[in-house]
Amino acid sequence: MSAKSVLVLHGPNLNLLGLREPEHYGNATLDSINQALAKKAELANIELETFQSNAEAELVTKIQGLATKKADFVIINPAAFTHTSVAMRDALSAVKVPFIEVHLSNVYAREAFRHHSYFTDIAVGVISGLGAQGYELALDYATKQLNRS
Ligand code: DQA
Repeated sequence: MSAKSVLVLHGPNLNLLGLREPEHYGNATLDSINQALAKKAELANIELETFQSNAEAELVTKIQGLATKKADFVIINPAAFTHTSVAMRDALSAVKVPFIEVHLSNVYAREAFRHHSYFTDIAVGVISGLGAQGYELALDYATKQLNRS
């Protein structure tokens, strides 16, 4: 049986992790988060791809690509696009790949404009406020689900 695959998508400004507002986003860099996920995925025999972009169009195109190069599960931190992007939501609905929405910070404890997400109601689940560990917990969940199917 071929290995299951997980795509991890990071939205705008997450390339600045480590430097950017550590009081909200912690000290881990995006590279260190991706490396920890890669290690975990390897141990679980999951094929992992990570992708970050500051451009909504690139993220939409990457999601659309799942129609042909299917991943079995997506973990996505849409970052600021969480609160604005109907286009990314529609792309996820179109390809019908189950996904978990992750936020490093607890968006519900922050400004009111961060309380609304265009993704939450179509996500399998949401992890918000657990820092970089949120991605690892999401990968644990995806791995368990994929090993069941
Ligand atoms: C974020 C929360 C968003 O509101 C914000 O725009 C981000 C990061 C988080 O991971 O906590 O860029 O998604």
